[in-house]
Amino acid sequence: MDEVSLAAGSGAEAPRLAFLNGTFLPLDEAQVPVLDRGLLFGDGVYEVIPVYARRAFRLDAHFDRLERSLAAIRLANPYPRERWSAFIAALIERHPWPDQSVYLQVTRGPAPRNHAFPAAPRPTVFMMSGPLKLPDRAERERGVSAISLPDFRWLRCDIKSIALLGNCLLRQAAVEAGCREAVLFRDGRLTEGAASNIFAVKDGVLLAPPADHLILAGITYEITLELARTHGLRHEVRPVSEDEVRAADELWLTSASNEILPITVLDGRPVGAGIPGPAYRRMAALFEQAKAAARTPEARTHG
Ligand SMILES: Cc1ncc(COP(=O)(O)O)c(C=O)c1O
Repeated sequence: MDEVSLAAGSGAEAPRLAFLNGTFLPLDEAQVPVLDRGLLFGDGVYEVIPVYARRAFRLDAHFDRLERSLAAIRLANPYPRERWSAFIAALIERHPWPDQSVYLQVTRGPAPRNHAFPAAPRPTVFMMSGPLKLPDRAERERGVSAISLPDFRWLRCDIKSIALLGNCLLRQAAVEAGCREAVLFRDGRLTEGAASNIFAVKDGVLLAPPADHLILAGITYEITLELARTHGLRHEVRPVSEDEVRAADELWLTSASNEILPITVLDGRPVGAGIPGPAYRRMAALFEQAKAAARTPEARTHG
């Protein structure tokens, strides 16, 4: 296939490559040893990085979080940032889609099965990329449904761990209820979604739970708060009660693969007026501007 037909095709069927420990190979040929601690213990961390117009968006923020996650699990970063950047750029380059979603993970690697760490770990580094599939127009215009569930996960949700069984069980319960996401509560307080952060809006004030050990500090969550700060939108970062969520005028979920998406139905009841609200529309427009700025040729690759 030549460059043009590659770029013009639907893209979804394009051959996908994996990056595995420094080598690129077809994704369906990439293999890891069965004794990899990622497989046995979920002993590893990951990142999902959106790519717009072939540029990794907010790459430095993802590196910051990766470093925090690795430090929290006491695993040395296998590469300096410049090498990560070069490998990520090469992965993006090898795929046809302008907008991509880069997945990367680092595990503590293969070792005889033992809960305690191996003395000299040999980390496994795996990356892949696919087309960035954002919510469609109808979902943005109508909003999506969510159910509330008790947050039964562990107390280090700030680590972007590949051990996601709790998140999978919660998301599956939401899907089986016909919903897009689960909105999680712990001890009467909002935490986050199964794979997203959750914001509430009441009387024009944006409410966000603090980025403590009970939630993963999403890069999209950080961008949303940064936009609120720089554009003078009223906002409060503080514990948000379940009652406040249920009385909210608007609810949003944020993540790399959803950007900012309004939740208009919670537990079968309309959120506020049951349609995406004015605060959402304002923030979504600001987010589009931030993306557009990152797409310009002058934008720094590490933006
Ligand atoms: C549990 C959880 N919280 C929050 C997020 C949002 O993070 P980000 O905005 O970096 O995608 C995710 C993303 O997958 C997640 O899994």
